[in-house]
Amino acid sequence: MVLAAILTDTPKSEPFKHGLEVKEFNPPQPQANESVVKVRAVAFNHRDIWILKGLYPGIVLNSVLGADAVGVLEKKGAASVNEGQRVLISPSVNWDSCPRGPEGDFRILGMLPSPGTFAETINIDSKEVFPCPEHLTDSEAAAIPLAGLTAYRALFSKCQAQKGDYVLVTGIGGGVALFALRFAVAVGAHVYVTSSNPDKIKFAKELGAEGGVNYKDPNAIEDLKKQLNGKLINAVVDGSGGKLFEKLPEAMAQGGIIAQYGDTASPQGVSFTRDLWGRNCELKGSTMGSRAEFAKMLEFIDKNKVRPVVSHSFKGLTQENLDKSVSLLAHGQQLGKVVIEI
Ligand SMILES: NC(=O)c1ccc[n+]([C@@H]2O[C@H](COP(=O)([O-])OP(=O)(O)OC[C@H]3O[C@@H](n4cnc5c(N)ncnc54)[C@H](OP(=O)(O)O)[C@@H]3O)[C@@H](O)[C@H]2O)c1
Repeated sequence: MVLAAILTDTPKSEPFKHGLEVKEFNPPQPQANESVVKVRAVAFNHRDIWILKGLYPGIVLNSVLGADAVGVLEKKGAASVNEGQRVLISPSVNWDSCPRGPEGDFRILGMLPSPGTFAETINIDSKEVFPCPEHLTDSEAAAIPLAGLTAYRALFSKCQAQKGDYVLVTGIGGGVALFALRFAVAVGAHVYVTSSNPDKIKFAKELGAEGGVNYKDPNAIEDLKKQLNGKLINAVVDGSGGKLFEKLPEAMAQGGIIAQYGDTASPQGVSFTRDLWGRNCELKGSTMGSRAEFAKMLEFIDKNKVRPVVSHSFKGLTQENLDKSVSLLAHGQQLGKVVIEI
């Protein structure tokens, strides 16, 4: 038996539809294609909040939740990594390498039939196991998989961002957004951000952003253009939609690309001004990434010694730590990833 965080039908409070409870769990025997990873740290994503609110497709009660983990390879299975080595797990199931999208029945770890990571050990298909870059602490490493992969695909595969480009990352308090900022700075882009919170914009500048605007300010687009001082945005990495998003093409260069990976502020969809087509801008949807992109992202992180931003790191897979983590994300009080070290 191991301890795990399991999705239940007993929510703690409004607005949740489900609960997340620490329980004893009997993991199945590993299959021939699987490795066993002893988990050292796990991280939360906004997806976990959508699931607890009942606003996510394909919810299965009694699933072990969680898509992110770093651990130690305990039983090698068919993995090319050695036992005892620290590993990261790719969260995208059935997506090998196709740049357009998943080849198969795409799933994300953390909803049955795919095992979740919020557990003391996890049995995982050996091909999803990758050596962890050595410069990272366990908390930093746990922060990477889902958010890092989403940011990597949106910024590089979709927006084709490169050195010298002007990149806008929206909602910089978010886990994916902070990875996009870190990656864009590492590649030598000029980065601007949006946030509801001036302190988060200030923090983004400490991480290398050149400017930032408050997306709640009705003059945000004018403010952004003023800060750009005649330059224009080549790439937008967005996870929220919202009022400002619709105006962004006004500040974009010809052929600019918007990669949207989420719709926190616009679940009903977005509309655009004529600048979108007038400036030949492209709007691209982006979802997580393939195993091949996961490998490329880890190489990028290793080469550039990128350090994920960890907002909170709690010690121990306890009910109190689960509740605190969920509350932080549900209220948007985090600045970076929320991690539990196991
Ligand atoms: N397609 C995919 O593969 C994929 C992968 C990961 C996440 N997602 C989705 O992307 C979204 C973000 O995920 P996450 O895990 O990074 O979330 P998160 O860490 O909970 O961050 C959410 C952030 O959204 C920002 N936000 C809220 N309202 C906004 C608005 N009107 N305009 C701009 N930003 C706004 C806030 O930024 P401030 O605090 O700075 O105001 C907040 O920090 C979620 O909807 C999630 O479901 C999709």
